[in-house]
Amino acid sequence: MLDRWDLIGPNNSIRLFALLLMLLELSRPALPSPVRPICDLRVLNHFIKEARDADTAMKVCREGCSLAQSVTVPQTRVDFEVWENKNASEQALEVQSGLWLLQQALNLLRTSVTNTELHSHIDSSTRNLQSISAVLRSLNIQEYSPPQTGVEQEGTWTVSSATDLLQVHLNFLRGKVRLLLLGAPACQHDVS
Ligand SMILES: *[C@@H]1O[C@H](CO)[C@@H](O)[C@H](O)[C@H]1NC(C)=O
Repeated sequence: MLDRWDLIGPNNSIRLFALLLMLLELSRPALPSPVRPICDLRVLNHFIKEARDADTAMKVCREGCSLAQSVTVPQTRVDFEVWENKNASEQALEVQSGLWLLQQALNLLRTSVTNTELHSHIDSSTRNLQSISAVLRSLNIQEYSPPQTGVEQEGTWTVSSATDLLQVHLNFLRGKVRLLLLGAPACQHDVS
């Protein structure tokens, strides 16, 4: 199967930059859903790269970079057979709830870290999660309502270190988020 994400336009960084700017606009709250689906996988690849940079920076960080309390995070391991057998709403729920959990976890990490270099990595990661939500909205992926506090969520676990959290964040983006985008019906027809 052709990877349709590669079919769009000339591969230049100006185009990617324009897409990113558009996403920053779109990820502002209270704007109507965009009409055009964002199917360019380079956008996600860029966010994955930044997540990897954050992970790397955390691994070498020696001071002011710890997580104050353990946080709930999504499972990142992908079993393709299980994934393929899920319907679109189940896949959307799994990714959207995972992104929501990661957002909460990164907010907590932001308040417990004092290292300024790490702050900028965490801030980018948070912005990128919002942009990913904007991409999902553009693809008409089902949205998610956060649960009442105290409700135990299925398919989650806890991590207690900052490096584990950023590792989970990275793996979630390059695993389930990527799979959901690759399978998005809004991106399956040919670009003409
Ligand atoms: C998806 O699967 C869930 C659980 O099996 C089911 O409750 C739901 O109705 C299904 N949704 C669709 C759109 O088929």
